Amino acid sequence: MKLAIASDHAAYDLKNTIVEYLKVKDHVVLDFGPASGRVSVDYPDYARHVCLSILSGESEYGILLCGTGIGMSIAANKYRGIRAALCLFPEMASLARKHNHANVLVLGGRLMGTELAAWTVDSFISSTPERGRHENRVGKFESYACDSWRKED
Ligand code: RB5
Repeated sequence: MKLAIASDHAAYDLKNTIVEYLKVKDHVVLDFGPASGRVSVDYPDYARHVCLSILSGESEYGILLCGTGIGMSIAANKYRGIRAALCLFPEMASLARKHNHANVLVLGGRLMGTELAAWTVDSFISSTPERGRHENRVGKFESYACDSWRKED
């Protein structure tokens, strides 16, 4: 599997741990940084790299990490076609794939230990989207023109 990954300074160490973990499992990992955890950076800049990598077809899935995962989730979900899910334990990650067809897993580096994060990544990667009603629901929000909605729509 080809994955794009990035973090901000707050989750730099966990990001590197996950990169190594995925490489050991023979996944192709595009690491979009940052290059150091010592400098404060802006998470939307790093979310952008991963989202564009997926939307261009360069990567199949993405993993984003920040302190809580909240900022990365909000930033990534601004990109049409990106379905980013903040998951703090494995069950959330498998359901994000199965029911919400998430294509970006978001982790909170200040909230999770390395083992829990690795299990959550495994759960995300090994789960596949369910069709039927879940596909219909995802289709409903994917087709929204969210920037031009009206109350009566
Ligand atoms: C950085 O201090 C922190 O705000 C960021 O990592 C993230 O948690 C934002 O949502």
